[in-house]
Amino acid sequence: ENNDESVTDRLYMICKLLKDNIDHYDWVGFYFKNEDKEELKLRTYVGEKTDHDIIPFGKGICGQVAISNKNFVVPDVQAQSNYIACSLTVKSEIVIPLFKNGENIGQIDIDSESSDPFTEKDERFLEFVNQEVAKIL
Ligand code: SME
Repeated sequence: ENNDESVTDRLYMICKLLKDNIDHYDWVGFYFKNEDKEELKLRTYVGEKTDHDIIPFGKGICGQVAISNKNFVVPDVQAQSNYIACSLTVKSEIVIPLFKNGENIGQIDIDSESSDPFTEKDERFLEFVNQEVAKIL
């Protein structure tokens, strides 16, 4: 049964699997759009605790992807002006929108402590992960 709790548990396990198995994935989380509000809410994550469980549309890398519907690969977070820092050890980030029935409903967000680690392979792989996740929502 796809109740909210079991979905969150499964999303957590996906975050953990990704972080534990891919060297350059140091923080992995899923944000989803809040109903009736122009903001994203953190559903589950693995990695350092973050203060940013609510992100307004347009703010930071995540907030920009909520509006653009496009992958956002950031090789160097320090070069971004519209960026929300979660941890000083983070050097790079990738955010891939999650589509359900063609609609951008959320995203997977990954932070890395390596500089410029993300390639098109990560994009294709994480697009696939999100497509699989969409099926259990
Ligand atoms: N860096 C993100 C905020 C979320 S943290 O990475 C967990 C951003 O700029 O949107």
